[in-house]
Amino acid sequence: MAFLEVADVTKRFGGLVALNAISFSVGQGEIVGIIGPNGAGKTTLFGVISGFIAPSQGDVSYDGESIIGISPDRLVRRGLMRSFQIVQSFADMTALDVVTTAALTRRPMREAIDYAAQALIRVGLGGKELKVPLTLSLQDKKLLELAKCIATDPRCILLDEVMAGLTMSETAAPIAVIQELNRQGVTIVMVEHVMPVIMRLATRMVVINFGEKIAEATPEEILKDQRVIDAYFGDHLDA
Ligand SMILES: Nc1ncnc2c1ncn2[C@@H]1O[C@H](COP(=O)(O)OP(=O)(O)OP(=O)(O)O)[C@@H](O)[C@H]1O
Ligand SMILES: [Mg+2]
Repeated sequence: MAFLEVADVTKRFGGLVALNAISFSVGQGEIVGIIGPNGAGKTTLFGVISGFIAPSQGDVSYDGESIIGISPDRLVRRGLMRSFQIVQSFADMTALDVVTTAALTRRPMREAIDYAAQALIRVGLGGKELKVPLTLSLQDKKLLELAKCIATDPRCILLDEVMAGLTMSETAAPIAVIQELNRQGVTIVMVEHVMPVIMRLATRMVVINFGEKIAEATPEEILKDQRVIDAYFGDHLDA
């Protein structure tokens, strides 16, 4: 069984089928990209894998066991962590507070603070520990999301558009953080609209359109797939 396996997952919101019998698997240490147009179901898929959304049908297994019904915080303790597409934080928390909260899922307070400070340094936010996240630049907010992931000692992370809104030069820092995590053995599943980034990082891509998986292949093969071009690349090749 693969490290992460999504088997026949369907999610209905009332009459809307957000995910329709989606299956794919991710091997340990892989970087897999998920692409698809707006509203395709990508964030819903991450919600199901990370325990925030109960699927209507289907199964997700991680590290050899079904994880359906297991709460997000218990999954984080087992090393399965996600980032959020919309970066949210409380107005009176510092960057260090935010990352410490993540580190507390795995460590007692004193260690969590130290570990959070190290995570901030690892993503390049050393010196910005006491900044309020709302006042950070978009790039730093994205790096803060990565620091939160790192602080939980992940084995597998689900990254939901961590590059969105960044210029190509601003993507260099988060790309380097992701590559470094992957070198250390962290499995990465990433939803991304910034095509040059995902093409560079992912070894395999899954394409979702209107809740259906329409392709799964290497980045090179995906670029030539007519269904993918019709559904998605019309808008995104120059992104
Ligand atoms: N909690 C919910 N209740 C009802 N409908 C929902 C809910 N969450 C998502 N949807 C719908 O499910 C579909 C898939 O949404 P989702 O956010 O997963 O798409 P996405 O691929 O992440 O899109 P984007 O690229 O814009 O982030 C959309 O039609 C959305 O409106
Ligand atoms: Mg989304």
